Amino acid sequence: MIEFTDIGKQFTHKGNTIVALDDVSLTIDKGDIYGVIGYSGAGKSTLLRMVNALEAPTAGNVKVKGKVLGTLSNSELSQVKKNIGMVFQHFNLLESKTVFENIAIPLVLNKVNKKEIQTRVRELLEFVGLADKEKNYPAQLSGGQKQRVGIARALVTNPEILLCDEATSALDPKTTLSILNLLKQINENFNITILVVTHEMEVIREICNKVAVMENGRVIESGHVLDVFGNPQNTTTKGFVKTVIHDEIPPSVIAEIQDDRINRRIFQFKFLGKNSTSSLLFELSKQFTAEIKILFANVTELQGTTLGIFTVAFYADDPEIERMVRYVKEKEVLIQEVKL
Ligand SMILES: Nc1ncnc2c1ncn2[C@@H]1O[C@H](COP(=O)(O)OP(=O)(O)O)[C@@H](O)[C@H]1O
Ligand SMILES: [Mg+2]
Repeated sequence: MIEFTDIGKQFTHKGNTIVALDDVSLTIDKGDIYGVIGYSGAGKSTLLRMVNALEAPTAGNVKVKGKVLGTLSNSELSQVKKNIGMVFQHFNLLESKTVFENIAIPLVLNKVNKKEIQTRVRELLEFVGLADKEKNYPAQLSGGQKQRVGIARALVTNPEILLCDEATSALDPKTTLSILNLLKQINENFNITILVVTHEMEVIREICNKVAVMENGRVIESGHVLDVFGNPQNTTTKGFVKTVIHDEIPPSVIAEIQDDRINRRIFQFKFLGKNSTSSLLFELSKQFTAEIKILFANVTELQGTTLGIFTVAFYADDPEIERMVRYVKEKEVLIQEVKL
């Protein structure tokens, strides 16, 4: 649906060259809720804005529905842009216009007749839960309600693609969740492909099926959320994952085992999906003589499945521990030794 190939982007600012994007390639398939996460300045907004041609790459190309944007005529480009809605962090509503009028703007610009505008805008007001607010002005709305207006305006032309640039970053956690649920519903009910850029891992965890992590204009890791969350490779990715999935042994537990005298080694297990409810620890204690102590456990719901993280200490001699590790690996559970 959207394909970035070898994208580069340089800005010149007061004689200095800024590399905003460096060799970025990503493919977003129809139906994806694709999340791009990174710290401020990573290049996320620049990348997103290329999809509706608000920015042009200085290298590489962007394809939307198979068409290379850089090669299109103005009228072809405006056809492509009509198929894309955009939602902003600060809503970008016109304060002097009512909720109804704000949502109607793209249709008015497209010279749609009044009757049709009324039907479509009311449909969307209903969908985003603001049917009773059509005559209100933005100043009379909460942040969450303003963003619902922003989303309705983005959907009013029936786009197949929705771009969200930090759409929940100005909202409190509870409102964030309700907006994220709305985005998920939009994806599921209307089969709209969504590209979200954010610095909040929460957003990725709640709604995205795929994720790319950006740093200094580059994509450093990407893939299905379950794979990236379950087994992050890069230090920055690990940092982001830690903000929503805790895997550290609490200091008080470490203190407790500090003085252990028998041979003790610590391992972290990761279970994905069905395995998370497996009876692996029970099987281990039946099959082996080692004492097993659970130091930390966490189960997170992700993409309709579960990611379980368990950190355990095995008390036995090394050959016995090696046999246990082999046994676990045969069950296709990720196991990694942890050094304190
Ligand atoms: N119009 C511009 N002119 C000059 N530099 C820009 C412009 N837009 C973005 N940049 C720079 O490009 C880099 C990436 O910016 P941006 O895409 O906004 O990052 P993010 O959205 O991840 O915070 C930053 O260093 C930013 O200062
Ligand atoms: Mg940004």
